[in-house]
Amino acid sequence: MSKRELKNDLLIRAAFSQQTERPPVWIMRQAGRFMKEYWEIKNRYSFLEMCKTPEIAADVTMLPVDLLGIDAAILFSDILVTGEAMGGDLSFEQGVGPRFANPVRTKADAEALQVDVLDKLQYVADAIRVIQQRLDGSIPLIGFAGAPFTVLSYLVEGGSSRDFKKTKLMMNNEPELAHMILDKITTLTINYMNMQIEAGVNAVQLFDSWANALSWYDYEAFSHHYNKRIIAGLKRDEVPVISFGKGGSVFAPLMAEANPDVISIDWNADLRQIKDALPIGIAVQGNLDPMVMYADKPVIKKKIHELFERMNGTEGYIFNLGHGIMPDMPFDHVKYAVEVIKDYRYS
Ligand code: CP3
Repeated sequence: MSKRELKNDLLIRAAFSQQTERPPVWIMRQAGRFMKEYWEIKNRYSFLEMCKTPEIAADVTMLPVDLLGIDAAILFSDILVTGEAMGGDLSFEQGVGPRFANPVRTKADAEALQVDVLDKLQYVADAIRVIQQRLDGSIPLIGFAGAPFTVLSYLVEGGSSRDFKKTKLMMNNEPELAHMILDKITTLTINYMNMQIEAGVNAVQLFDSWANALSWYDYEAFSHHYNKRIIAGLKRDEVPVISFGKGGSVFAPLMAEANPDVISIDWNADLRQIKDALPIGIAVQGNLDPMVMYADKPVIKKKIHELFERMNGTEGYIFNLGHGIMPDMPFDHVKYAVEVIKDYRYS
């Protein structure tokens, strides 16, 4: 579906740095555990079953569309499905988070990772087609993938990590091994995101969720280099590319160099300052501190208005949180935030 057929194309216009009457809104992790309707589905299936059954993935994708009225849907899936397709033994345990039972630590492990595995990810293309039928041109659908460094960290650590000790040990002691794995993830990710574009997503986001763990130089060599290759490899004529990085406040100049349409920034930076320092034609997304969602409603409204007044007159601005919604965030606060945003008009 091309952007011209969308009834609400605010997100696409903002992503292509065109003026909008108000900022479009969607929220990372909008299809998730903070909604009781999510649990009604989740209690019946495992997380991976939900991702791999197109009808269920579509049901979950549609929850925030129907219940929050946001300006874009995001495919229900996970960034780690690429790692699984490459040979990772992936599971999601309640309270533990993602786990790879066969972490990638040696050259032999890295060589065993498969790249030519798009057929194993066909369920994602199927889900996209079902979701687009349900959306029926109402709002854009965002596809996504994990950035190579973030996916590498899960493959090497075997799960979530606070300090990325094993990943950094590999990067420091055996950089060629880390690069070999990153190269493989990159090749699959280009094909995977192009598959999503062909299946009909209207925008794509690359999630480099743990880039903030890296030094400037390591970010350049182990993350930026590959993200740039991915963005250059996308068939993106009508499909804006959003580059999200935790740490984006610091790495914005490098992120821009990779030539995405939009840079999504965490909450540390003054978004206006970031935007003004970027080349013309690169939009920004963000960057409310997610913790504001716990605050009282008048505070939520005030913080959103402060952010928007800062961004007033900016061509190319999309509202999001600096990172995802937390499972215990009150649903009515999130819904209220969306209403405040949709009622706003730039002066
Ligand atoms: O944004 C959306 O609503 C779309 C779906 C989506 C999920 N994960 C669903 C999910 C997206 C875009 C992701 C991306 C993702 N997955 C990221 C990048 C985004 C970010 O927050 O930085 C990362 C780092 C992952 C890896 C991952 N998947 C983790 C760390 C976890 C566990 C989180 C936790 O707090 O336990 C997951 C599981 C996951 N992915 C859930 C959901 C709804 C929870 C699964 C459950 O119901 O238990």
